Amino acid sequence: MMVETVIAKAADVESVRFSAPDLARMRGFLEDFGLRAAEDFGDGVLRMRGVGDAPFLHETVEGEPGFVSLAIRMRRMDDLKALAGAEGAAVEAATGGGWRVMLTDPDGFRVEAVAERPRVASLAPPPNNAWNIAARRERPGEAKRIAVRPAHVVRLGHVVLGVSDMARTWAWWRSRFGLLVSDEVRAPNDDVAALFIRCDRGDEPVDHHTLNFASLPGVPPKFHHAAFEVSDLDDLMAGGRYLEEKGHRHDWGVGRHVLGSQVFDYWRDPWGHRVEHWTDGDLFDARVPTNVTDIPTMMGHQWGPAAPPDFAV
Ligand SMILES: [Fe+2]
Repeated sequence: MMVETVIAKAADVESVRFSAPDLARMRGFLEDFGLRAAEDFGDGVLRMRGVGDAPFLHETVEGEPGFVSLAIRMRRMDDLKALAGAEGAAVEAATGGGWRVMLTDPDGFRVEAVAERPRVASLAPPPNNAWNIAARRERPGEAKRIAVRPAHVVRLGHVVLGVSDMARTWAWWRSRFGLLVSDEVRAPNDDVAALFIRCDRGDEPVDHHTLNFASLPGVPPKFHHAAFEVSDLDDLMAGGRYLEEKGHRHDWGVGRHVLGSQVFDYWRDPWGHRVEHWTDGDLFDARVPTNVTDIPTMMGHQWGPAAPPDFAV
């Protein structure tokens, strides 16, 4: 695909923001999903964090249900300034510290580029995450006891958006965030149906995808899902059992994806926004070339149940 001048580079996705009419209900779901209340900055926004060092991963403002925006963490302040300069946009002080530039992508998705958002102390991961697999015995002499309780969400891993014009969207995002394509998914007519996109951190391995854009004929641009990394497979399974016991709406899983290889489990929040638990995804550095593949490969899985019929729309 077309290569544009790169203005700045992103380090990772940082957080997602939703709107919902009942913040207490959203908080209850998110606590069952494995997030916990973050610092309250007194602005009426519900913020939830994981056990990692991000101050918050999920925000909700009171209003009609919907996806509001995503935040992208830039490598450093110079990237944010370069982005602001190229856009003619202001660098603003961000709530909770650090700096931000607000952008709008070609489909109207709001993007908050952030830098120097303060890190917080990580919280304890679950114990007992060593495995006695056949090739590697990691816990001789130790019993394993896994409680059914909320998963330990560590970080936000990726965000998936349906877009209306893939070439236009990719040109916009690549030039502003210096992104790389891990998998380019072609439709039977050779149109690009989806891109699995990672950050360029040089020699440092990063998630196979941090963003995914998909374009299906006749489907309007919209939020598809936000995916949160959990501690490990036991954490995903026990956390899923907990969500089930609490009566939350399951969507798809447990299975292992092909593109990105994660073990996945999808749930819906009380207003139907799709949120994913995942663990054990592929890590690629900047040298790994783009792989070209097809839609059945994207929608398939290595093991697990088939996707529900409404997953792709
Ligand atoms: Fe995902």
